[in-house]
Amino acid sequence: MRTQVAIIGAGPAGLFLSLLLKRLGIESVILELHTRQYIEERVRAGLLEYNTVQLMHELGVGERLRRQGLEHGGIELRFNGRSHRIDFRDLAAGKCVTIYAQHEVIKDLVAARLAANCPILFETTDATLHALDSTSPYVTFRHNSQKEGAAERLDCDFIAGCDGFHGVSRAAIPAGVLTTYERDYPFGWLGILAQAPPASKELIYVHHDRGFALLSMRSPEITRLYLQCAPDEDLGLWPDDRIWSELHKRFATRDGWRLTEGPITQKAVTGMRSFVVEPMQFGRLFLAGDAAHIVPPTGAKGLNLAVSDVGVLAEALGSFYSRGSSDLLAQYSATCLRRVWKVQRFSWWMTQLLHRFPDDNPFDHRRQLADLDYVTTSRAASQSLAENYVGLPLP
Ligand code: FAD
Ligand code: DHB
Repeated sequence: MRTQVAIIGAGPAGLFLSLLLKRLGIESVILELHTRQYIEERVRAGLLEYNTVQLMHELGVGERLRRQGLEHGGIELRFNGRSHRIDFRDLAAGKCVTIYAQHEVIKDLVAARLAANCPILFETTDATLHALDSTSPYVTFRHNSQKEGAAERLDCDFIAGCDGFHGVSRAAIPAGVLTTYERDYPFGWLGILAQAPPASKELIYVHHDRGFALLSMRSPEITRLYLQCAPDEDLGLWPDDRIWSELHKRFATRDGWRLTEGPITQKAVTGMRSFVVEPMQFGRLFLAGDAAHIVPPTGAKGLNLAVSDVGVLAEALGSFYSRGSSDLLAQYSATCLRRVWKVQRFSWWMTQLLHRFPDDNPFDHRRQLADLDYVTTSRAASQSLAENYVGLPLP
């Protein structure tokens, strides 16, 4: 097989890239490890920045999003049992964010790609990247469309490594090329989906002595809730009634606000880390999304950052194919990293502002409360939060 761009991974990065390339008349083939059903059902992020929503509309994949997405013009920060609203429309030039589950985005993108007769090879195993520092890189892999999964070869001009944190692309870069910057957090999130109408129209981020909590949603009937927990928390120790009891304590307000309960349909623990590799390129391989960087989930930036990377990559590939210029490709990593580091800073800042750290002392606790007080009373500080939350301008 031969294509112009081989894309490893059908997550948000790989799928958005393929549609952006298609719009530019550039061919691609996506190799995906899992089944279509698996990637369309995997529960992950749920909050789309303003620019991500605009891009879905521009790409013609925003029809369900327009009908089902929930636009939010603000969030609540809750501390000391009181809520404080950050009004995005006022503070971030009328912008808002939209709640729409990541796996719904995936369904829309997969459907658009297949409808355009562009290939996604699901259940591809043993993807191996070759000749990255030449002008004719290629990928070998096995696919069940071939008898007994015989080895196949995909020749291409470029490879986009969009295969997430545990993928093979980053690992294919020779030792000594990449510098890694990382920080682990001594906690995780226990996340649930509950069949219960959300008790609030907007997201609530809670700072509490017992630890962070977050109320989000997926629809007018489904609430998404998160609790700070141990990084290796044993879900077996969290029967539903213990989860509700802990959530009620953390969300409690002085005015008797109540969380709505309902049957819990999904439970999982997510780890937290900040991670960046530099550069995001080696030869003809370009890393995008979680393959190159991870943010802790506070502020919901992971998916959105993947989308901004592939916007830069598509433009650079477009310039290569239309004008023969490699300039934008050469700047790809530096262009992305400027935004990546600002988003890393914001995600780290939200995380350290709202979570309890095991070695916190009373000074740290007072400092967090002072920061929250400042951010909810100073227009300059709340504007800074708002412009980061709705999404910084694209590079
Ligand atoms: P991914 O979505 O990871 O996609 C990579 C794709 O590559 C996958 O489909 C994978 O199957 C495929 N792949 C992997 N290896 C190979 C291989 N060898 N060959 C072929 N294909 C391969 N972000 C938020 O903003 N808010 C959240 O609440 C949130 N919750 C999360 C919960 C979990 C459990 C996880 C893991 C992530 C969460 N994130 C969240 C992060 C967000 O989902 C990611 O940042 C986003 O999915 C990144 O998109 P991506 O396309 O770069 O990578
Ligand atoms: C969601 C996840 C987040 O990490 C966040 O900050 C806001 C919302 C969500 O899954 O809805």
